[in-house]
Amino acid sequence: MDQTKTNNTAGERETPGLPRHIAIILDGNGRWAKRRGLPRTAGHAVGAENFRKIATYCKNIGVDYLTVYAFSTENWKRPEDEVKTIMRLLRRYLDEAIDTMEKDHIRMKIFGDVAGLSPELRALVAKTDEISRRYEGFQANICLNYGGRDEIVQAAKRYAADLAAGRAEAELTEEGFGSYLYSAGIPDPDLLIRPGGEQRISNFLLWQCAYAEFYFTDVLWPDFDTAELDKAIAVYQSRDRRYGGVKNP
Ligand code: IPE
Ligand code: IPE
Ligand code: MG
Repeated sequence: MDQTKTNNTAGERETPGLPRHIAIILDGNGRWAKRRGLPRTAGHAVGAENFRKIATYCKNIGVDYLTVYAFSTENWKRPEDEVKTIMRLLRRYLDEAIDTMEKDHIRMKIFGDVAGLSPELRALVAKTDEISRRYEGFQANICLNYGGRDEIVQAAKRYAADLAAGRAEAELTEEGFGSYLYSAGIPDPDLLIRPGGEQRISNFLLWQCAYAEFYFTDVLWPDFDTAELDKAIAVYQSRDRRYGGVKNP
């Protein structure tokens, strides 16, 4: 990683340096396993482990936020066995992550409809929230039972309730609406990475990715290592972010 291109936090950057916020759609676990003659669930286990490596790397190179898509509101459609295994892995993963958070002072937030998760998972989510309040610096966000449309609808409902109760301004701004999203207070992703070969957003961070740079690769998530992340960042750094304006009028 080119460490000389560090973050410039003073306002919007036209020439991209290091992305301040990276979002990743963790896709391709099932195909990774199938290619090895293993059950799809084996791919989920390796994928979960890979998240730990990539998160540590992001923290070490100076990225401020990493948001990953781990389970969507649509993933409940999968066979019961697969969903059960993913939920078991998530429980184990969050349990282990709590130790890492305490050791490395990492903040971790869960984005998604937590009410739809098991009581065990909900308890782990509450614990990660509590630990996160104690630290500053790098933050990992895990999207779990997350859907971009669901997030927007939930935010609209909460705003309407606040408005009815006199707790919100009648004049709704983009910034004001953003404060009702799971990502409240967090800058939008600069770089959205999708491994696994598909070129679609699959209901991920629909509001927040308005001006994200997209990077797609055929590499499957369990094979997506730090060298692949460096490649994605290098491509991002070659992009020209215009935000609808013109560069040299
Ligand atoms: C991503 O990998 C993990 C989840 C969606 C839970 P997939 O399970 O979608 O893997 P592929 O896309 O079938 O290979
Ligand atoms: C997106 O992957 C969701 C997650 C990675 C959690 P999917 O595998 O569910 O997406 P589609 O079905 O290919 O669009
Ligand atoms: Mg998939």
